[in-house]
Amino acid sequence: MKIELQHEPVEKLSLPALAVYSFEEDPSSSGTARRLPSKVQKLLEDLKACGELTGKAYECTLVHQPVGMAVQKLLVVGAGKKEKFKPFHLGRLAGAAVRFLRARAVHEMAWIVGEKDGTKGIQTVTEGAVLADYDADRYRTEQRADRRVDLFALVCDKTPGSEAWAAAIAQGQAIAEATNFTRDLVNEPANQMTPTLLARHAREMAERTGLGYQELGTEEIRALKMGALWAVAQGSDEPPRLMVLRYTPEEAPEAPVIGLVGKGITFDSGGISIKPSQDMHEMKTDMAGGATMLGVMQAIAQLKPRVRVIAVVPSTENMVSGKAYRPGDVITSMSGKTIEVLNTDAEGRLALADGLAYAKQLGCTVLIDAATLTGAVMVALGNITTGVFGSDQEWVNRVISSGIETGERMWQLPVDDDYRELYKSSIADLANTGGRYGGAITAAMFVGDFAGDTPWVHMDIAGTRWSNEEKPYLAKGPTGVPVRTLVHLLMDFAK
Ligand code: BES
Ligand code: MN
Ligand code: ZN
Repeated sequence: MKIELQHEPVEKLSLPALAVYSFEEDPSSSGTARRLPSKVQKLLEDLKACGELTGKAYECTLVHQPVGMAVQKLLVVGAGKKEKFKPFHLGRLAGAAVRFLRARAVHEMAWIVGEKDGTKGIQTVTEGAVLADYDADRYRTEQRADRRVDLFALVCDKTPGSEAWAAAIAQGQAIAEATNFTRDLVNEPANQMTPTLLARHAREMAERTGLGYQELGTEEIRALKMGALWAVAQGSDEPPRLMVLRYTPEEAPEAPVIGLVGKGITFDSGGISIKPSQDMHEMKTDMAGGATMLGVMQAIAQLKPRVRVIAVVPSTENMVSGKAYRPGDVITSMSGKTIEVLNTDAEGRLALADGLAYAKQLGCTVLIDAATLTGAVMVALGNITTGVFGSDQEWVNRVISSGIETGERMWQLPVDDDYRELYKSSIADLANTGGRYGGAITAAMFVGDFAGDTPWVHMDIAGTRWSNEEKPYLAKGPTGVPVRTLVHLLMDFAK
């Protein structure tokens, strides 16, 4: 999608379509509908009178050949009630316009920049437009390539040449494209996304963007005594990989070094504690945390914030075989802590345990992990909100406020020593499960135990990695959550 600024008066725009938005209180002339010629606003008044235009959230009303304008189609998107409107909604409105028009074979469209939008607004709109112009349909032989928006023109009356605005567009585009890269990785079926193939994607991305790249295979993983990651990997015929990507800008201070650790289970059958077959196919997405960190690295390689970042993605399948680890096995993690395996389906925390220990060894001074860790977080928060946990409230707050900015919902759940009883083992340092109640918390705390004293934040994205329904502004399928939250966080932090 090409995104450009245009400075023509609204009446003279000669693109196939223009999209504006308006609120419920005044659907014919609020929002950017305010900028339409009065004759067109009169027409919208009539549509309102007969109930075709209400301003309800994401309502799309299409007007053909609007009088006194050069565009062929005018789309009015409802923005809902004004008092409920938040900055991130602007991106969703632009997204809804993109998805509505592309479904009607419109390839070039304009969007009016509001008077108060500024660079933040422009970036939000850009992100929303690029995220909306995505479908997870790579494997359909009948391609829908005709259903894409090629040109998205941002129309503003300010004078041309504003560098800050061009930068806002470039930034929004880089972030949304990185999010779409993550979505592509998450969407791949497990036969096309083994640990080896995931690592190949990571390496290619690193080479393309100039990031440092290293990868550990079976031998290195065993030599480094990553007994927890290896326990999961040993049951699979596919060899494990641990990817390390480094972003080291010269002008950045020595500290902090932010470690981004992502769970990269390319398929989670549950192992010997096998999952029911019902939704097992969804477990191809169990590498969403790892894919998130790869997307974040791609974005920051382009945006160049002044902060050092290292991504660590431990990746393996969790399979059933004669070589698979068993319930009851005791394993020794890289940190030296011993773990009694009570359930082989609690594999994510094992992979993360060694991932975090390795990130610390590489010199990370802050740890942020993302993982499709528990079904329990979906029981608590559904697939709307990511569960956030952490040992350092300042960093937790950074994640949460970044989530509020991007519209990726986050909610903090507690960590507390009183829960520690639940995952005690009678024969080892820890057990890998803590029972059904509070399952998201005990899983998070298990992971946190391997962060030790290093400030740590954990995001459980089991619910939010995927959307089962199509939204007006987003395709069904992989969401790319929480790529945008983390990139915004790193950009703001580096300022
Ligand atoms: N990958 C799953 C969690 C998951 C479930 C992600 C549904 C996305 C959708 C994880 O490895 C897992 O199996 N967790 C278990 C832990 C339990 C055995 C303690 C769970 O949540 O049931
Ligand atoms: Mn599992
Ligand atoms: Zn899993």
